[in-house]
Amino acid sequence: MQRSTDVRQHFDDYGHDEWERFENRLTGKIEYAIHRNFLLQHVRAGDSVLDLGCGPGRYAIDMMRAGASVTLGDISTVQLDFARRKIAEAGLEATAYHELDILDLSRFAAESFDLVVCIGGSLSYVHENYATALEQMARLVKPGGRLVVAAMSLYGLLPVFAAGDKANQLSTFDQHISRKKLAENSGYLITEPDSPVIYMPLFLTTNRYLREHIEGLGFKTLATASANPLTADGQKLERISTDPIAEQTLIDLEVSLSTRPELADSGEWVIVAAEKLA
Ligand SMILES: C[S@@+](CC[C@H](N)C(=O)[O-])C[C@H]1O[C@@H](n2cnc3c(N)ncnc32)[C@H](O)[C@@H]1O
Repeated sequence: MQRSTDVRQHFDDYGHDEWERFENRLTGKIEYAIHRNFLLQHVRAGDSVLDLGCGPGRYAIDMMRAGASVTLGDISTVQLDFARRKIAEAGLEATAYHELDILDLSRFAAESFDLVVCIGGSLSYVHENYATALEQMARLVKPGGRLVVAAMSLYGLLPVFAAGDKANQLSTFDQHISRKKLAENSGYLITEPDSPVIYMPLFLTTNRYLREHIEGLGFKTLATASANPLTADGQKLERISTDPIAEQTLIDLEVSLSTRPELADSGEWVIVAAEKLA
């Protein structure tokens, strides 16, 4: 429970940056372009959608514009308030807003949504409870309906965490990632609880682990993607950001390559879309 309070506080404090990071930073622009492109392929006009860990509502707005009715849920009051404002500014209306923890979705009836979405980190923030969260989400999807989830990528982020002291050194590696767990190669890993760099333990996954886990809940995989497959470590992008043509070229390349199986584990995010078996 302590952890949930920490996450709520973090995103309350993060405030509006959660909206702006998709506009101000090239990594954010790429992340948004990939997720939006992927998500919209799995939204149908008339769908009833539950957007979990919705943040300030950017994807909810995209899904509403695609003709879906969207219910939003988030642990942060501040983020939900931003979402309310942004959705009103866009001239749209959500079905409902819920302050909730993805570990307890019991307020919703079983099989009540055509699409359940959880992208942008919530699944990684619940660390070892990721399986409970996925089980709860799976319960809410109608047979034949879809689940779109993203979690932080184990191998995409390793180079970033390996340089967790920001000086590109490995001297602090063992404080963030257990080498024993890494050697076990189990397809996922929870980061170390007392890392001074990673502010809370995170669930990191491979594409295959997340996909197979969701299939084990009675789903078939429709598609997977990675974000950002070419530039998980955004530190290198400052020069590109100053050239609009280079910037757009990179965004287009990232989107077009994001579903390549060869790059499935190379981005910061693993994204899976799956359909619930009847
Ligand atoms: C990085 S933001 C992503 C927002 C949006 N989905 C996106 O991708 O841009 C993560 C959001 O998940 C929310 N969150 C984190 N842990 C959560 C939990 N256990 N239950 C519900 N929401 C959670 C945070 O408050 C935050 O708004």
